[in-house]
Amino acid sequence: MENNILNFSQYYKPHLKDKKKFNHLKIKIFQHQSKGQFHNADELINIIHSYNSIKGIVYGDDQINKKVIKLLKTKKTKFIIKWGQGLDSIDLKSAKKNQIKVKNFPGIFKTEVAELAVGFILNLLRKINLLDQNTKKISWRRIFSHTLKNKVVGIIGFGNIGKEIAKKLKGFDVKILYNDPKVKIKTYTKTNIKTIFARSDIVILACDLNLSNLGFINKSVLKNSLKKPYLINIARGKLVIEKDIAKYIQNKKISGYATDVFQHEPIVKTNPLLKYKKNTLFTNHSASVTYEAVNKINCEISKNIIKSI
Ligand SMILES: NC(=O)c1ccc[n+]([C@@H]2O[C@H](COP(=O)([O-])OP(=O)(O)OC[C@H]3O[C@@H](n4cnc5c(N)ncnc54)[C@H](O)[C@@H]3O)[C@@H](O)[C@H]2O)c1
Repeated sequence: MENNILNFSQYYKPHLKDKKKFNHLKIKIFQHQSKGQFHNADELINIIHSYNSIKGIVYGDDQINKKVIKLLKTKKTKFIIKWGQGLDSIDLKSAKKNQIKVKNFPGIFKTEVAELAVGFILNLLRKINLLDQNTKKISWRRIFSHTLKNKVVGIIGFGNIGKEIAKKLKGFDVKILYNDPKVKIKTYTKTNIKTIFARSDIVILACDLNLSNLGFINKSVLKNSLKKPYLINIARGKLVIEKDIAKYIQNKKISGYATDVFQHEPIVKTNPLLKYKKNTLFTNHSASVTYEAVNKINCEISKNIIKSI
């Protein structure tokens, strides 16, 4: 009996000790990393067609739609493992209907993502990147920045990551506001999104992407920005309308935008935010790409493959 596993994720590699277990259990991992960030559904279908049977797959941001699931069913696939947490690129309904188990790892990267969010806050307020650029140009011109202490930080989405950001900010003496329809925690002040934008100096997006919040951070929400907040997105690019954010930066109604995620990934040259280099800070969806986090999730995935075979 073949135990073929296709790996589409960029970072999954079993450790040596797991490889030995895999050999013993006749588990074979076939690597299919995309040249870009992910495979679209047609690319996945082409690859899947070339196998007689597939026990399971590991994927990252690859687009697993209904057609892909149907094809996997014909290959007797039992499980799909997400390298990470967000399940927004898979048709969960189809997977359930076809009795293919989907496994993800909620909260596995909360430390790394929260650390990046804190890094964004410090960099936006203290302008570390601009000072670095100037100083390396042998310029001694100082730039005014902002003190973080006593600022109001509004967090939209108060799940694993949102709460971890609040925890990490404790030592900075800031006031935390949050919005999340599913969470109620007495330690912090819960409020609506309009108030978050009206009262915050820094607004952080930390919610999952779902059908009800696609593009919900747009001009109709941004117009409530009374204190010219800095906006930070470590969750998903499609939560925001980037051209609206660009307009608000241009009109100086928000002070800046730091993001790890984009409406179109990888980033494209025509991204409207690229015009505002001084008020923006970009990373390429790499909040969870640390040696420690990758090592941790790869161990979990190997364990899961063995359990699910
Ligand atoms: N940048 C990265 O590399 C990276 C890494 C991991 C996770 N993420 C993203 O971060 C998201 C959050 O992660 P998490 O572990 O905290 O997830 P989580 O499921 O623990 O929490 C998400 C919270 O967002 C809330 N929410 C959903 N829609 C909302 C809305 N419209 N307004 C306010 N709150 C809303 C939910 O009720 C939930 O409590 C993930 O779904 C993923 O998309 C990004």
